[in-house]
Amino acid sequence: MEIFSEYSLKSLNTFGLPSTAEFFARATSLDELKELLFWKKNKNLFVLGGGSNVLLMNKVPGLTLHNVLKGIEIIQEDAEGWLIKAYAGENWHQFVMHCIDKGYAGLENLSLIPGNVGASPIQNIGAYGVELKDVFHSLEALHVKSLESRVFLAHECEFDYRTSIFKTREKGNYIITSVTFRLLKHPVFHTSYGAIEQEIQAMGIQTLSIRAISEAVIRIRQSKLPNPTQLGNAGSFFKNPIIAATHFHLLKEKYPSLPGYPQPDGQVKVPAAWLIEQAGWKGKRLGNCGVHTHQALVLVNYGNATAHEIRALSDAIVHDVLSKYNITLEREVNVVGE
Ligand code: FAD
Ligand code: EPU
Repeated sequence: MEIFSEYSLKSLNTFGLPSTAEFFARATSLDELKELLFWKKNKNLFVLGGGSNVLLMNKVPGLTLHNVLKGIEIIQEDAEGWLIKAYAGENWHQFVMHCIDKGYAGLENLSLIPGNVGASPIQNIGAYGVELKDVFHSLEALHVKSLESRVFLAHECEFDYRTSIFKTREKGNYIITSVTFRLLKHPVFHTSYGAIEQEIQAMGIQTLSIRAISEAVIRIRQSKLPNPTQLGNAGSFFKNPIIAATHFHLLKEKYPSLPGYPQPDGQVKVPAAWLIEQAGWKGKRLGNCGVHTHQALVLVNYGNATAHEIRALSDAIVHDVLSKYNITLEREVNVVGE
């Protein structure tokens, strides 16, 4: 196990930003993870997965620990399904494909999300009508200070829209080492997200299957979201804001085309992409970065952007949306370093 200093993270973040880690090391086992945590002493720690939900500033102080623990195991099987454990360093989409190949149902709507298994609970990843919490059984994590392993069950993770306990009260305190999923033998198809049904029809699919849903989701995603290998980005830069119903109705009077999705608690989720597009930002380019031409929620690096430029663009969008709609957009992307 080697510890590098002044290590370039450019190829390890999907924005493709030129960032340098003060120290960098890969952990391929639990023992290596513990050794590295012991070595780092009082230095800062940044745990890196696939780098697809981070805005890496020029310098990342302390130790950047690339969690590359690998493996997929069947923990249990019964009449209904399986408990499948995947280690943190497994690539998310490859894991989803593995499950579809084996007939393990539940992850198909979450196809083609970049990143690794270990980060999937952090923001309770979600897409096309399914969230991680719907298929989650438990996870194992290493406490950064005590070096003790702990199991978190679903109710202990405080999952909600794009958040969990690992983004709030326990932020930075644990390294997730594996995640166990409850997957089904008899699939429950989630096609209510409008675009999926349309895509399945367009594909001429007669018999629904987990593979057909996965393929439909992949086609929709490819038509909307830029491929990070071609155009640097980190998916949705902001979360979709959830606002009070009274606020929503006031806005709706002024902007009748504003979409809104009522939440169980009476509040309304509005698409940040709509707010950003209507405020005139879609397709706008400022120097080396800009707002994607097909999806206003995605900020892109045209090649030579710095994190400071992207942050300045995002700040300008936040101010503009606040002044026009009285809504404060919250970043989904994690800002790391200085
Ligand atoms: P990283 O970016 O490496 O890390 C993200 C955060 O998690 C950091 O704070 C990091 O320190 C922490 N972290 C990472 N691994 C661990 C670990 N093992 N233990 C503790 N902390 C850890 N997200 C969605 O929810 N839905 C989508 O549909 C979606 N679409 C996307 C499309 C594109 C094109 C892109 C680029 C991103 C998209 N994302 C989406 C965001 C991203 O893919 C997810 O958030 C993903 O889970 C991030 O995984 P990662 O391994 O890349 O995490
Ligand atoms: N819209 C616009 N302009 C645009 C794009 C969208 O006005 O340029 C409006 C439309 O009204 C559209 C609505 O926004 O109906 C929703 O758009 P879309 O279906 O593309 O979804 P989103 O809200 O932009 C969310 C997630 C994505 C996830 C998709 C599909 C968040 C922050 N983003 O995007 O997740 O893949 O739904 O479920 O919740 C991510 O988190 O990185 C991510 C990509």
